[in-house]
Order: sequence, then C-alpha cells, then structure tokens
Amino acid sequence: MTEIPDYLLERSRERRAALGLSTGEGAETADTTGTTVESSAANAPAPAPVATIEPAAPAEPEPTPPYVEAADQRARMPIWATPLVLFLPIWAFFYVGTLEDPPVEATGILAQGGEIYATSCAGCHGGTGGGASGPALADGEVLLTFPNAAEHLLWVAQGTAGYGNAGEVYGDPDRPDGARTIGGTNATMPAFGGELSGEELLSVVLYERIEHGGALEEIATIANEMIETGEFEIPESFDGLEAEEINATIDAITERAVEEGLVDEIALGE
Ligand code: HEC
Repeated sequence: MTEIPDYLLERSRERRAALGLSTGEGAETADTTGTTVESSAANAPAPAPVATIEPAAPAEPEPTPPYVEAADQRARMPIWATPLVLFLPIWAFFYVGTLEDPPVEATGILAQGGEIYATSCAGCHGGTGGGASGPALADGEVLLTFPNAAEHLLWVAQGTAGYGNAGEVYGDPDRPDGARTIGGTNATMPAFGGELSGEELLSVVLYERIEHGGALEEIATIANEMIETGEFEIPESFDGLEAEEINATIDAITERAVEEGLVDEIALGE
C-alpha cells in the first residue's frame, strides 16, 4: 500500500467541506465509494449529486458465460508453433511471388527458347552467350556468322558433323573478321535436329538472334501471333531439311517482318 501524501488528504478534506460533507477522521481514509456519506446537506441549497450515491452492494460474481468457458477449455496453440505462425506471412509473400506470371516480354516462343538455351546450349556457349568451348554468340556475334536465319536453323539442326567437312566455311563467307570454318575451334557442336522438335529449335534460334545477336524482339512477337492464328506452321522437326526447305518454312515470318519494315529480305531479325 502506498501512503497517501498529506497534502492530498488535506485537499480532499477541503473539498468535502466545500461540498458540505463530513470531514471527520473516518472519512480521511481515502473512502471514494461514498459509503460513509452522511448528508449534512440540510442547509445546502442543492445537494451535490455525489452525496446521493447509494452504497454499492457487494458485487455478486457473475456466472461465466458458456462461450467464455468453451474458450477456456479449447486447446491452446502450442508454444513451438509461434515462430511458424509469425513466419507464415513472409512465406505466403514468397509463395505468391512464385505464382506470378513472368513478365510479358518473356512469354511465348522467346521464353521457351530461353529455357532450351539454358539446358542445351549454355554449357558450351556460356549462360549469357559469352562463349566457352563453343564460340561467343553475344554482342551481335551470332548475327555476323548467320545473317540468314535459315542457315542458323540448319547449323543447329545438323551440328558440326552434319553441316560439312572440317575446314569448310559455315555461315557468311564475308563475315567482317573472317569467315568461320568447321572445326575452327577444335571442338564440335552436336546436332539438335533429332533431339529438339521444330518448335523448340525455332524458339532457341530466335532466342539467340534476339538475346545475343540483338535482333528485334518484335520478330518473336510476330512469330507468336502467326503461330497462334495458324498463319505459320512450324515443321514437326528440322531434322534432315535442306537450307532451301527451311527458308520456305520461315518465309511467312520473314515476309511479315519485311512488310512491317523490321528486317530486309535475307535476314530474319537483323
Ligand atoms: C558440346 C558443346 C556445344 C553445345 C552443347 C552447343 N554448341 Fe553450338 N557450337 C559449339 C562449337 C564447338 C561450335 C563451333 C563449331 C566449330 O568450330 O566447328 C559451335 C557453334 C555454334 C554456332 C555458330 C557460332 C559462330 O559464330 O561460329 C551457333 C549459332 C551455335 N553453336 C548454336 C548452338 C545452339 C543453339 C545450341 C543449343 C541448342 C548449341 N550451340 C549447343 C559447341 C556447342
């Protein structure tokens, strides 16, 4: 119990006197419930409202409502679960993040090409096309070798061995810093024509031309649209096709790209 300072008791006494209440010794013990109120208010013009307070009856303990009892009996969350519950929103945040659609540019055939590049090509040409055992494709290099998309498709479908003999030129014979020759790197490029479907091969070639070569992304948009509307039919496979045949299959895309002023005749995506 804290002692009540004298000056407070004094103030209380004065207040009671002012209200015409008893200031007797009994009232000094900080009685705030009004139980000792004795109205000496006979002379007072209007009895102060505090003076009429009835003594509070000792409160009956309220019966516990059934819903409180039920809540009391309910099993509590075990203490070890607390951190789990605390981390739940964070986990939910990341989970929701993984369900979000990829950005618009990375959908369709270009996204597919990116996945195939990562699994089938990056090991030799580098994750970003910077080169490793295979030559660098990035910074426009791949378009210098293959200004023509059909040649590019043919190369990837046939690989080093299928394309020609060691020492023969592949790609543009007038390549700015010298033509590329088969076996020039002392390594070989496997053939993908049998392994990848026509769509997969086209998508990875478009990916290389756009991502590494710097060709316009609109080419992929055109390809996507034409595949969806059926205006462009991708062959089941490029395996065994000649350059002429490949050229014929991608002509529809090339024509549309030329119409829209994106490329010139020979290059799908310059
Ligand atoms: C096992 C290693 C390896 C893999 C995997 C590989 N390549 Fe190659 N690639 C090479 C080599 C080596 C060359 C150069 C061939 C030569 O010197 O005869 C090459 C050359 C190329 C070229 C010509 C580049 C230039 O400018 O000379 C392109 C384009 C290419 N590869 C695309 C691809 C694509 C697309 C894939 C995946 C579908 C792929 N490569 C997978 C090793 C590989």
